[in-house]
Amino acid sequence: MRSPSYITKLDDLLYGGLIKPSSILIAGSCGTGKTNLCMQSLFNAAREGEKCAYVSLLSESKDKIIRAMSSFSFYDEKLIDDRLKVFSINSDVVAKGDFAIFEYINENILKSKPSRVVIDTMNVLEDIESTFDERPFHKSELRAFVQNLFQEFDDSDILLLATGEIPAENINSSIWSYIFDTVIVLDTMIYDDSSYRFLEIIKERGSDFIAGKHKFTITKDGITF
Ligand SMILES: Nc1ncnc2c1ncn2[C@@H]1O[C@H](COP(=O)(O)OP(=O)(O)O)[C@@H](O)[C@H]1O
Ligand SMILES: [Mg+2]
Repeated sequence: MRSPSYITKLDDLLYGGLIKPSSILIAGSCGTGKTNLCMQSLFNAAREGEKCAYVSLLSESKDKIIRAMSSFSFYDEKLIDDRLKVFSINSDVVAKGDFAIFEYINENILKSKPSRVVIDTMNVLEDIESTFDERPFHKSELRAFVQNLFQEFDDSDILLLATGEIPAENINSSIWSYIFDTVIVLDTMIYDDSSYRFLEIIKERGSDFIAGKHKFTITKDGITF
C-alpha cells in the first residue's frame, strides 16, 4: 500500500507515495533539511488524521524540538500530544544497550499505535556499547538489532522514516543504506556562487521512482520543490 509523504512533488517522484509498511532513510549532511522534511511529513499526516510519533535519539528536550518547528506554516500546536507525539530517548537508555531501546520503543511508542514514526537520527544507534546481559555490543550486531527493530515496525504496519547524518558522497559505503528499504539523500550544491538544495531518491525496494537530482528550497512553508 502507498502512503503519501505529504510533501508535494515528492509523492510524484515516488509514483504515488511511500510504501507502507517500510523503512525510509532520509540521509544527508548536517543542515540539509532532514529533520524539517520528516516533521513536515508528520504534521501534514497528523492533520489528515494519522497517529504519528517523532522520536529523537539526541537527548534533546521536547520543548526545543517543538520550538524549532514552530515557525513553519505546517506547524500546528493542537496536533502535538494528540495526533503527533514527541518522544526524546535519553542517552542513558541508548547506553544501556539494545534491549533497553527495544523496551522503550515497545512501551512508549508502539503502544500508542502510530501509523507513521520518525527516528532522528539513526547514527546514535552506532553508539550502543553494551547488551542487556552486560557484555560489549559488537559493531557486527548492529545490523541484526536494527533489522529486528524494523520488523517490529513492519508488524505494526508503520511507515518508518529515519534520518541519517550521512554525507551524500558516503551513502554507498554506509551500512544504513542497505538496511533501509528506501534511501533518499538531501544535499547542497554551489553553482555560480549560489547554493542550491536538492533531493535524490537512491533506491526504493520493489518499486520504480523518478531518478535524478530534484531542486528544492526551505522556506517558512518547509520543503518546496
Ligand atoms: N523558516 C525557514 N526558512 C528558511 N530556511 C529554514 C527555515 N527554518 C530552517 N531553515 C533551514 O533548514 C536548515 C536546517 O534543516 P534541518 O532539517 O534541521 O537539517 P538537518 O536535520 O538535515 O540537519 C537550516 O540550516 C536552515 O537553513
Ligand atoms: Mg536534524
